[in-house]
Formats: sequence, C-alpha cells, structure tokens
Amino acid sequence: MSIDNNQNIKGIILAGGAGTRLYPLTKITSKQLLPVYDKPMIFYPLSVLVNAGVKEIMIITTKEDQENFKKLLGYGTDWGVNIDYIVQKEPEGIAQSLMICEDWINNSSVALILGDNLFFGPNFNELLIDAINNNQGATIFCIESDTPERFGVIDFDEDFKVLSIEEKPKDPKTNWIVTGLYIYDKSASSLAHTLKKSNRGEFEITDLNMIYLNNKKLNVKKLDSSFSWLDTGTFDTLLEASNYVKNLEKN
Ligand code: G1P
Repeated sequence: MSIDNNQNIKGIILAGGAGTRLYPLTKITSKQLLPVYDKPMIFYPLSVLVNAGVKEIMIITTKEDQENFKKLLGYGTDWGVNIDYIVQKEPEGIAQSLMICEDWINNSSVALILGDNLFFGPNFNELLIDAINNNQGATIFCIESDTPERFGVIDFDEDFKVLSIEEKPKDPKTNWIVTGLYIYDKSASSLAHTLKKSNRGEFEITDLNMIYLNNKKLNVKKLDSSFSWLDTGTFDTLLEASNYVKNLEKN
C-alpha cells in the first residue's frame, strides 16, 4: 500500500520547545534527541513519515539545537527522503508550525507529527496511508487514555459523531484524546493565521481542529486497543517508552 501519486503531501516534525518538564536532561540538548531505549526520540516520528512514503520532510527545532539534528539526520539521504530544517524562535504552539512552514508547504497537504510522540500498531502504516489518500479537510487520530486531562479531549454523541474537542479540560467528557499526528489539506496554513493565542500563550492545534470541525471537515480516526501511543514529555512516560520499545524489540 502506498500514497497515491496524485497526493501532494509533505511532512513536518515539530521538535522545538524547551522541554522544561525534563530538566536537567534537556538543559543542554533537545528533548527529541534524548534516547528512547536504543534510538534518539526523533527517529520514531521520522519513521512514521518515512514508512508512509512521505518524501519531503521539514524538521522544526530551536535555534540552539538545529546543528545537532543536522549532525544526526543530515539532509535525509540515509532515510531516502529530503529533510529541511527551520527554526521556531519561541515555543508558541503546535499550530505555529503551519505558519512557520507556510512558504515551504506551498499549497501541499501536510502530515504534521510531534517529535515526542511514538505510535505503534500492526497496521499503523496502512491506516496512515489510507488517511492521507482519503483526507478531505483534516484527519486526526484519537486513542483512549487514563489521563485525558493532560491532552486534547474529544466528545462524541451516541453515533460517535464528534461534538467538540477541549484542550486539557479539568473535567474530561470522555477518555478519548487527540494524539500528536494530524493531516491537513492545503488550507491549513492560512487557517492557522486566523488563530488567536490561548491563555497559555500558544496557537492551539485544538483551535485549528475546531475550525475544521465547524466547517464539517474534520475526520477522526480511532486507534483501537491494538495500537499504542506514547508521549514522552515526562520522566515517567519517557521511561515507559524506553521499556515499551525494549520489550517490543525483544519479542
Ligand atoms: C498537545 C496538544 C494536545 C494533544 C497533545 C498530544 O499538547 O495541545 O491537544 O493531545 O499535544 O501529545 P501539549 O504537548 O501542548 O501539552
């Protein structure tokens, strides 16, 4: 299975941010360069895009860390893709990626993935390719979580039609959360420009997804229990991710 020839899609990995929750580990290096078991964290989201067949990839980093990403990944030759780099001056939200990369995106569709998100599952690659081939508007991927209050939370009606997405709600309506992988049509950058910063000072990806939802152009894919999704933003989840990968490789 592969991406259709008529799909003009580029990939973005957001690997900026200060990683303050992982201090002092992230004092001298980027979170996305830390090890997850036997590989640097960014290898995992990069593999997601490369395995799907996305050939043009932009990595967003901080100014200080860009050189180290280049040392690690170069311009993508070893991965059979083209990798470019761009700086995010201030960590002002996931949706900011689409503004920073607007010229580079140049009217393509985009698969945006967070540099600290790990996805596993037997048919994950097929699911992603299918989602890219059939995307109309935006497609997001959700999964059940024990700690939904830490994430974007989706509310469904009885027919599983999406009613709303709330960013880090105190009182989550469901335990279905939005993972850090998003597919957007070519209008994403211009829509991102219409966003206002949230109370935490960020251009929220949830606000962008709500625009697509209100325009009836948001498609939500549920990742069932055969999939695993790990975010690695805390000491515990970073350790869990390493243990998970170790077990996966041993089996
Ligand atoms: C971000 C998004 C959130 C999403 C999460 C996935 O959270 O805002 O909707 O569920 O990524 O990792 P943040 O990393 O900004 O806390």
